[in-house]
Amino acid sequence: MMSNNLLRKKPIGHIHQGSSLYRSLSAFDLTLMGIGAIIGAGVFVLTGIAAATKAGPAIVVSYMIAGFASLLAALAYAELAASIGGTGSAYSYAYAGFGEIIAWFIGWNLLLEYVMSVGTVAIGWAGYVNNLFQAIHINLPESLTTNPFEGGIINLLAVLVIVAITLLTCLGVKHSARFNAAIVFIKLITIGVFIAVASVNIDLDNWTPFSPFGWEGIMEGAALVFFAYIGFDALSTAVEEAIEPQKSIPIGIITSLIVCTLIYIIVSALLTGMVPYTTLNVESPVAEAMLRLGYHAIGGFIAAGAIAGLTTVMLVMFYGLTRICLAMTRDGLLPTRLSVINTQTHTPITIILITGLTTAFIAGIAPINRAAELVNIGTLAAFTFVCGGVMVLRYTHPDIPRPFRLPLNPGIPILGMMFCIYLMVNLPAVTWWRFIIWTIIGLIIYFVYGMRNSLLRDAA
Ligand code: ALA
Repeated sequence: MMSNNLLRKKPIGHIHQGSSLYRSLSAFDLTLMGIGAIIGAGVFVLTGIAAATKAGPAIVVSYMIAGFASLLAALAYAELAASIGGTGSAYSYAYAGFGEIIAWFIGWNLLLEYVMSVGTVAIGWAGYVNNLFQAIHINLPESLTTNPFEGGIINLLAVLVIVAITLLTCLGVKHSARFNAAIVFIKLITIGVFIAVASVNIDLDNWTPFSPFGWEGIMEGAALVFFAYIGFDALSTAVEEAIEPQKSIPIGIITSLIVCTLIYIIVSALLTGMVPYTTLNVESPVAEAMLRLGYHAIGGFIAAGAIAGLTTVMLVMFYGLTRICLAMTRDGLLPTRLSVINTQTHTPITIILITGLTTAFIAGIAPINRAAELVNIGTLAAFTFVCGGVMVLRYTHPDIPRPFRLPLNPGIPILGMMFCIYLMVNLPAVTWWRFIIWTIIGLIIYFVYGMRNSLLRDAA
């Protein structure tokens, strides 16, 4: 039987309130951070692969389904971020709603999600930059652009970009937010240019057959392009650095997700309308579709915009990673001494450096597909518990202030859970095995370290 300790929940009043992090982010900053985190390798890389191999032109339906699931989860995130708070995001909500061991399970999977998503995007970024270098006749040795599993030594560009992101994160969140805002602007212009040019180059024949792989293909496509929506959840880690977080975080989460969903539906419909979906199984489908129609300068411009776009995804997701670690170290589930905040930069520098080194290592040696496949399952598991957490906390703590309440409870959270679980079921079996192994490793660490060092147990 489970001991009381394992079922123990974090009292709502216990959630870390005081902080030496610095409140500087407005709802507008947060919305831009959301867009910065969301639009990246998903739309710039995976759309093509998913259209060519899973859904065909019906990839637009896959995007609608994954977007709807994300929106349901986003409403749940908005409610819990405003009422529970905590830099740990889903980890903190799970602690309040379900107790320590579930919180650890979620936190442990969030670490995997964030490290792997930053790693995946870094590898994609390195691929784009290397192509650009080759176009201007700078040829890096292959051993320094390829991971050891594919015959090289290290993916040096991927390591270097993580080092740069790590240093920027050390400087403080306002610097990161400013940098992010500038690049989000470039990213949106890039997409605007694509939409303008693509919409006058549609060939209706390309949309027939619309759904060559049937419903199964659409759902597998949705499970894959779900990656494109990941990122809005990172905003909920900013509660201690947001101005009026009870308002600004829900606004940031929901606005950024709606904007990105609309963009994805338009881009995926146009992409499969301008070239046959069978031609899209390439690393940079959005840029290559332009090249295929003879728009060379625009193709180059879009590739450059994609590089910029991928940078902000890494920046915001890496930021989220450090804040979730911070929450877990503060609770003693990871070593507490790591949680020190630097008094000059107001950032948790030790955590930033450790997570930066770990992520740089993974980006340097991992193949992109292995890094990517674990991201979605961990995120969907977290989303499922966040939706469940809304229902549990409405029941166990009906009176806590809820500045944002999701509508139609329990309908929305139940639907959110069902959608997330359905998408998980559509992921490949090998992904499930890796997820189970990661979880078992996490549980061993919890029983050997976290359970014995939990500060909330001492406080209880
Ligand atoms: N949503 C992010 C991307 O597509 C993770 O790159």
